[in-house]
Amino acid sequence: MVTGAGAGVGKGIAMEAARQGAKVIVNDLGVNIDGSGANKGPAHQAVDEIRALGGTAAANTDSVADWKSAQSIIAQALDLYGRIDGVVNNAGNLRDAIFHKMSEDDFDAVIQVHLKGSFNMSRAASPHFKSEQSGSFVHMTSTSGLIGNFGQANYCAAKMGIVGLSKAIALDMERFNVRSNCIAPFAFTRMVNTIPADTPEGLERMKVNQRLETAKIAPFTCALLTDGAKDVTGQIFGVRNNEIYLFSQPRPIRTAHSGTGWTVQSCLEVAIPMMKPSFHTLDRSTDVFSWDPV
Ligand SMILES: NC(=O)c1ccc[n+]([C@@H]2O[C@H](COP(=O)([O-])OP(=O)(O)OC[C@H]3O[C@@H](n4cnc5c(N)ncnc54)[C@H](O)[C@@H]3O)[C@@H](O)[C@H]2O)c1
Repeated sequence: MVTGAGAGVGKGIAMEAARQGAKVIVNDLGVNIDGSGANKGPAHQAVDEIRALGGTAAANTDSVADWKSAQSIIAQALDLYGRIDGVVNNAGNLRDAIFHKMSEDDFDAVIQVHLKGSFNMSRAASPHFKSEQSGSFVHMTSTSGLIGNFGQANYCAAKMGIVGLSKAIALDMERFNVRSNCIAPFAFTRMVNTIPADTPEGLERMKVNQRLETAKIAPFTCALLTDGAKDVTGQIFGVRNNEIYLFSQPRPIRTAHSGTGWTVQSCLEVAIPMMKPSFHTLDRSTDVFSWDPV
């Protein structure tokens, strides 16, 4: 099951999964980048392309954002194929705005598709994974959440939320041999094409972004879906062209201890200065990924 697989990263994953012999459900609501509209075309088009290459696929054009429709998307896989082995939570929208101008609607719409949608789909698949005593979830996160980005509070919150969701699923479902991992992809899709490129630096960056091949996300995603990755769970990866990353996860890096306890004053005078050398700078994704992809 690949959500948002009518275009972009998801389509590449669906095609590679089919190439590897998987029977695929291509889910896609076919919406505009902001989540408006709905078009059955992209999901059916992707299915046609998979079938033309000799693969097995069926289209689903329901929304992952709704609990009941997520249940019916998973039910379609079971009706057609008799079981479900992997879910890739990839569907996504964007509603960028600087924080003090972000509307409640913009916040809710992005959380609803990315975070709630990933919950809906994972939760719908989980009883089947439990009874099969196997299953693999791959959730698309983003360096916008893992590191940070400007004007994307809704998206950053959703993508960090997905990291927590994935780890929680990995912990809760380990006893049923069910695995859950995240990937932060880098790929030139319409989502990346929304980044403003109206300055010389922006234009330069866009040229680099245009080199990010969508299909390059697929092999690693499909590898995580296979039994060959049966020991891999609770991890956060990244894929950018020919580079694959393993991301760190938060652990304490400094400890301030006072035998007599802390006052506001001693926090300001001792604890904060002590930890300050290890503070993280206000990085954005491009500050950390400061080299161009190979
Ligand atoms: N492209 C990148 O560099 C990049 C970077 C970081 C994270 N991501 C993540 O990767 C995933 C794929 O992004 P993309 O760049 O291919 O974007 P995309 O816009 O090309 O594809 C997203 C697809 O999701 C579908 N969709 C949206 N809402 C849906 C819903 N409610 N139900 C079902 N389908 C829905 C859209 O119709 C669209 O086809 C997203 O989760 C995105 O946040 C992408």
